[in-house]
Amino acid sequence: MTQPRADAARILAHVERLGERHPPVDLATADYSARDADALRRRFAGPLQYMARVEMEVERNVLELAMMLPGVSETDRLFYADVWGPQEEHHGILLDTLGQQLGMAPATPDLTVAPRIRVLGALSHLPVVHEVIRLLYYLTGAATEKSAMLAYQAMSTGLGEMGETAIKNTVVDPIKVQEPGHFAFYRLSATEMVQRGVLAPWQLHLARILRSKTFGLVGAKTREQRTQFGSVLVELGLEENIEHHLRDIVRVETSLLDARHEGLAVPAYALAAFRDAAELYHEKLRLAA
Ligand SMILES: [Fe+2]
Ligand SMILES: [Fe+2]
Repeated sequence: MTQPRADAARILAHVERLGERHPPVDLATADYSARDADALRRRFAGPLQYMARVEMEVERNVLELAMMLPGVSETDRLFYADVWGPQEEHHGILLDTLGQQLGMAPATPDLTVAPRIRVLGALSHLPVVHEVIRLLYYLTGAATEKSAMLAYQAMSTGLGEMGETAIKNTVVDPIKVQEPGHFAFYRLSATEMVQRGVLAPWQLHLARILRSKTFGLVGAKTREQRTQFGSVLVELGLEENIEHHLRDIVRVETSLLDARHEGLAVPAYALAAFRDAAELYHEKLRLAA
């Protein structure tokens, strides 16, 4: 896959435009009235719970970032502190409020910084390591935002099918339109690093190894959280075309890290993680039946 040209000026312009065009969603504009709250809860409780929690964990992500990547560029700082962070924070509040309106428990975001992040932060003071970590941060961001795009698209379609227009139009769709700009930021930033040759071949190789060893489902560390991730795949209908969706999700990293495959291969480690999560959720459904 050919990557678009990316340079620092273009990335900064992108971030500034996002900030201007997409202020955080005005919480007062959300209309949570449901036609059939029970049906909605039955269908979307798992995905809503997962997505509300992960969006709310952005608060921790911002802390981790500051620790993991000391001395980031002004563009990175502008993006995560002034544009991305505030947008995602409102996504979390909107989804959590929606869940509670539907009779679900409030989300329980985990806001403690993992020890691993502190170690990475210490290593990051070495410039050669810093740049590898920075690339991994962009690649993870691209995969996460692409997943969010797919999930919100599927949720929006589902709400439309159920005739839940108020929630679709004033809660999920306003969130949905903000995710592609996040994805584009990470894609451009990772592409810029690789095109400019910031990393030596051994650093790219290290990034590839680290990514395959540390690939994890976002916000799904425990078995219960992985099951919840599985509910997103299954209940939003993403499981049926799992390889196809996953190819989209990891396209930026496969094309930048592994030129031989030209972005066509789905890494086995990622597919295994997705299938495992879906299976955990199926198992939970079987036990509940
Ligand atoms: Fe979001
Ligand atoms: Fe996002």
